[in-house]
Amino acid sequence: MSDTNVHDSVSTFAKSARSHDKCIVAVVGLGFVGCANSVAIARSLNNVVIGLDRDNNSGQQKIDDINSGVFPISSSDTFLLEEFQAVYSAGSLLASSDPSVLYHADVVVIDINLDADREEFILHNKLEVDINIFGEAMGTIGTHISPNALVVIETTVPPGTMENIVEPVLNDAFSKRGITVPPKLVHCYERVMPGENYLESIVSAGRVYSTSSDSDSEAFVSFLSSFTDTTLHPPVELSSWTASEMGKVMENTFRAANIALIEEWTVFAEAAGVNLHEVIAAIRQRPTHRNIMAPGLGVGGYCLPKDPLLASWASSNFFGLERMKWAENAVRTNEQMPVHAFELINEMSNRSPENRVGIVGISYLANVGDLRNSSSLYLMDLLRDHKYDVTWYDPYILESEAPVNRTSSFEVLTSVSDILVFSTPHRVFFKSEMIDQWSAYLESGGLVLDCWGSLHGALPKSFRFLDRIKVLGNGQNSGNE
Ligand SMILES: NC(=O)c1ccc[n+]([C@@H]2O[C@H](COP(=O)([O-])OP(=O)(O)OC[C@H]3O[C@@H](n4cnc5c(N)ncnc54)[C@H](O)[C@@H]3O)[C@@H](O)[C@H]2O)c1
Repeated sequence: MSDTNVHDSVSTFAKSARSHDKCIVAVVGLGFVGCANSVAIARSLNNVVIGLDRDNNSGQQKIDDINSGVFPISSSDTFLLEEFQAVYSAGSLLASSDPSVLYHADVVVIDINLDADREEFILHNKLEVDINIFGEAMGTIGTHISPNALVVIETTVPPGTMENIVEPVLNDAFSKRGITVPPKLVHCYERVMPGENYLESIVSAGRVYSTSSDSDSEAFVSFLSSFTDTTLHPPVELSSWTASEMGKVMENTFRAANIALIEEWTVFAEAAGVNLHEVIAAIRQRPTHRNIMAPGLGVGGYCLPKDPLLASWASSNFFGLERMKWAENAVRTNEQMPVHAFELINEMSNRSPENRVGIVGISYLANVGDLRNSSSLYLMDLLRDHKYDVTWYDPYILESEAPVNRTSSFEVLTSVSDILVFSTPHRVFFKSEMIDQWSAYLESGGLVLDCWGSLHGALPKSFRFLDRIKVLGNGQNSGNE
């Protein structure tokens, strides 16, 4: 569809929604969160959704996909894909790159990205956050929305952004348009969990939010109730926007720091001849310690590697405090985890790049096809930099999405690898026919590095005592359980 056609379609779409007394919701940013959120909102018979993304190649691709009935993001959630088809067929979801369509919306949900430069941080210890780009996006929103629209910021932002950027920018845009009422602003963060229950994680996660007035709060909860079960999961209202913004980055910093803590203990346990997995299982018996993390290959995805940096940036840029050492250390430490795996591979191969390494799973998370900040990619880079011959297999990742040397099956991977690295614990890798293939590979003399400990436990007992399988975090070298 041409831009003019899309614009006309949106006007007809909005007129029809109005005549049926539906709430028109604009979702700005059709990425991992915005696409799924659009489906969640449009499923409700009360709502229709206009999705908005940027007028560039990747934005336009997502818009074209949505408008032609293709879900633009790779997802293993079949329920989400079915529900997308249902809202598409019902004509409840349309996408555009033209911000003037925002004027139709009763509610505008912001799901755009706000990035921190991890490379600058890791390499040069500098904190750089795209706050100006985010501010410009808010300016565009303020130029086009209806003065009565409820604006819901779901983007994860540095605490203080609502007060220092969003509100002043929208006020300014409103005053340029001669609008005298203040913008209706809500901060409410997303807790979506990519994977097989992605849509469910949106509609059934309890929300935390804050608004500037009681009437906005009522309007927001009523909107939320149209597509989430607010009776079963009542939203929690905090007393300020900054508190709600802080809630999000603190949740993720807590998790990143919990993971980072284990890095140190992994190295300690390996040197001390201790199986850290067994220690952690014992510690988890205490109700207060159930969420202690286990050793692994590291942290990936979009949020955990950046959200602690957003917090630290806000601390120094909005509040004149020192940068946050714990938050930053969590990111830095997690970044080191693939390096530790690389060192173990070096030991297993007697530091000989003659050994061919097969990576089993390259997605950052089990059972999803998402490569963002994946530790496996980082590990593959390290190995290639040291001249290892690296191949990989991941049923969730298409050849076009990832670097060279994909193999078409696990069987092929075993035939071209001297060492297999179990790097993403996708459920399919534990199927009985796969366990047979792992066993056959070990029987034929192959070496395995199990980065999560879970493969080791799934193998027949006789294999668990082989010295050809090394478990990250197990200093007993897998010899004993
Ligand atoms: N991915 C997750 O699992 C997750 C979970 C919870 C919260 N979040 C937060 O949600 C937000 C969005 O994350 P995401 O994973 O969807 O990011 P993403 O990068 O996948 O998507 C962002 C989308 O916004 C679009 N966009 C950027 N600027 C825009 C503009 N000015 N106008 C219109 N569209 C614009 C981009 O083109 C892109 O399609 C982030 O703040 C993230 O931290 C993400």
